[in-house]
Amino acid sequence: MAGPLPWKTAWVTGASTGIGREIALQLAAAGVKVAASARSADKLQHLGQGVMAVPLDVTDGDACRRAVENIESKLGPIDLAVLGAGTYRPVSLDELDPAEFSHMMTTNYMGVVNCVAGLAPRMAARGSGHLSWIASVAGYMGLPKAAAYGPSKAALISLAESLYPEMKQRGIRVSVINPGFVETPLTAQNDFAMPFLMKPEEAARRSIDGLAAGRFEVAYPRRFVAILKAVRLLPYPMFFRLISRAVLKER
Ligand SMILES: NC(=O)c1ccc[n+]([C@@H]2O[C@H](COP(=O)([O-])OP(=O)(O)OC[C@H]3O[C@@H](n4cnc5c(N)ncnc54)[C@H](OP(=O)(O)O)[C@@H]3O)[C@@H](O)[C@H]2O)c1
Repeated sequence: MAGPLPWKTAWVTGASTGIGREIALQLAAAGVKVAASARSADKLQHLGQGVMAVPLDVTDGDACRRAVENIESKLGPIDLAVLGAGTYRPVSLDELDPAEFSHMMTTNYMGVVNCVAGLAPRMAARGSGHLSWIASVAGYMGLPKAAAYGPSKAALISLAESLYPEMKQRGIRVSVINPGFVETPLTAQNDFAMPFLMKPEEAARRSIDGLAAGRFEVAYPRRFVAILKAVRLLPYPMFFRLISRAVLKER
C-alpha cells in the first residue's frame, strides 16, 4: 500500500470471507479502525483484535441502520464504507427460477442500498465520507450464465453513477469497485475457465489503493477490464458472435 491511508474508521460488509475479508484485514493492518459485517458471526470473530465484529444480514434495512448507529457510537464516524456483501450462482436456461433472481437482486443491490441509506444522512450532516461498493465487470454487459447476477451488478454501477454528482455536492465521495475473476468461495463453483484469475489479497490491495487515490471506478485486472470495455462497444452482431465463441465455445 502506498503511504498512509486517508481514513480513520471503515465499515466493510461481506467481511467473513473472500475479498471483503482481505480488505478488512489490510485496512486494520494499516491502522484503520475497522468494523466488519456478514451473517456468519463466528467467522468475523477470527479477524483479529483490531476489528469490531458486527454480524448483519444486509437484506434487513432496519438492521443496517442500527449497525451504522452501533459502529459510530463505538468507533466514531465511519469515513469509509466498502460494501462488499454479495452472492452469486450461475443461471442455466433449464432452471430459470425467479426466486433466484430476486435473491440476488435483494442481496447484491438492495443490500448496498440499505447500507447507503443508513450511512448517507450521517455523512451528509458531517459534509464528508467515502462510500464504495463492490459491483463487478459482469455488470458491464449481459453475459451467458449471468442472467441473475449480472443485472444486480449493472444496477450497482448505475447506482454509483446516479449518486456521484449529488453526493459530491454534499462532500461525500462515491466509488464503485469492479473486479474481474478473484479466487474466493464465490467463484469456486464456476465450471468454466476464468481468465486473469486473481488472489483475494491482490484484489484487496488494488481496491484499497484505488479508493485511497480517490478514483470513481476501481477496476482490475487492467488488461481484462480494457478487453471487456472494448467488447462492450462492438455492434451487437459482432458482440454476440464473440461472446458465444468465448463463453459457449460456439464455432
Ligand atoms: N470473486 C470474484 O471473482 C468477484 C468478481 C467481481 C465481483 N465480486 C463481488 O465481490 C464481493 C465479494 O465477493 P467474494 O468473491 O469475496 O465472495 P465471498 O467470499 O462469497 O464473500 C461474500 C461475502 O458476502 C457475505 N454475504 C452474503 N450474503 C450476505 C447478506 N445477506 N448479508 C450480509 N453479508 C452477506 C458473505 O458472508 P456470510 O455468508 O457470512 O453472510 C461473505 O462475507 C461480492 O459482492 C461479489 O459479487 C466478486
